[in-house]
Amino acid sequence: MTGRIIPSPDGERKRFPVGRPGMRRPASVCMIRTHSGNHSHGSTHPMNVNGIPTRPLRPLPADGAIEIIDQTQLPHRLVWQRIDSLDGCAWAISSMQVRGAPLIGATAAYGVALALAQDGSDATLAAALDCLGATRPTAVNLHWALTRMAQTLRPLPQADRCPAAWAEAARIAEEDVAQNAAIGQHALALWKDLIIADDQVFNVMTHCNAGWLATVDHGTALAPIYAAHDAGIPVHVWVSETRPRNQGLLTAWELAQHGVPHTLIADNAAGFLLRQGKVDAVIVGADRIAANGDVANKIGTYLKALACADNGIPFYVAAPRSTLDFACPDGAAIPIEERAGDELRLVTGLDRTQQPAHLRQLPADTDVANPAFDVTPGWLVKAIITERGSCPASREGLRALYPDEVGDD
Ligand code: MRU
Repeated sequence: MTGRIIPSPDGERKRFPVGRPGMRRPASVCMIRTHSGNHSHGSTHPMNVNGIPTRPLRPLPADGAIEIIDQTQLPHRLVWQRIDSLDGCAWAISSMQVRGAPLIGATAAYGVALALAQDGSDATLAAALDCLGATRPTAVNLHWALTRMAQTLRPLPQADRCPAAWAEAARIAEEDVAQNAAIGQHALALWKDLIIADDQVFNVMTHCNAGWLATVDHGTALAPIYAAHDAGIPVHVWVSETRPRNQGLLTAWELAQHGVPHTLIADNAAGFLLRQGKVDAVIVGADRIAANGDVANKIGTYLKALACADNGIPFYVAAPRSTLDFACPDGAAIPIEERAGDELRLVTGLDRTQQPAHLRQLPADTDVANPAFDVTPGWLVKAIITERGSCPASREGLRALYPDEVGDD
């Protein structure tokens, strides 16, 4: 159940923010700072920044480039970054400029298209798949997306591969949007049936960032929260900070943009609040769900699930199909990324002149352990919610939702 520890591809050598060994920010990556959003995508209450419909990833096939929100700069600055190379894309994923399992998958798919602009040869395709596949180990969406790209592109003539890669990456991205929207509706229906009481504030706790920033749109765990808010249900979110990378700050930023009431807490405050009866439900996303329903998610998730079990509070996991790894028998087989110690030794923020800065809180030679994910056993999960509906976090439950994909023991 503990998962296998895999050193991050960037290991201890990297400085903060981090990247692959020997990998430097590619010269072709330019920084674009803007406060304008990108495109509209048809939702009544679209995810937005300052009221402008916004997604964290913008494909520009005619330019041979993509633009991403550089999440290492949030919540302090909204910075768009243009990427036009395979290395730039791999850097963005490994350094967590883009992060969150579904977004990593979609970004990697576009990375294949960027690589094939050089040529459509088998060698270029294989090198791109290897390079992107080595960026982060735990989120299976990355490997799911790359497998899908490979299966689509390999049979094609080399000259057709680049445009086909752009088209397949767009399909992956749009499917993610639709699936997350469906997750939001399924989870909300579940909550309405089980726990939401008329006119009372519904208090939800979440961990890490599983909102629109972590996906192509809507988010996974935050999708039902946005759906509830948009439906007029009074909802309040307890947002745990999520040390050491503080993805909870991204969640707070997103919720503020959408006008959803929320309160940030230190990770260690979660158990206290759960025991005090201040939380009706906990919902998190996932980076990989094994065939038996065990869930790998951001480090600290397991502790919340334990505290929920002790206090009789339902603990939900929301994830699209691309997060389900039916080839992985259980949580013990899930590779767990071990990231660089500097993520703990340094803290980041703005200095007195409002510039981003890193502050050393520990001597450089202090030994630290930094597992980025943990595994929550399925029996602690009230339900897994996917685009198909909800099910118990077990082999039988997943088989009921995906009868063609989950085999017998
Ligand atoms: O290391 P990160 O920030 O990529 O980890 C993200 C998470 O653990 C999310 O909770 C998970 O990917 C679900 S995202 C929809």
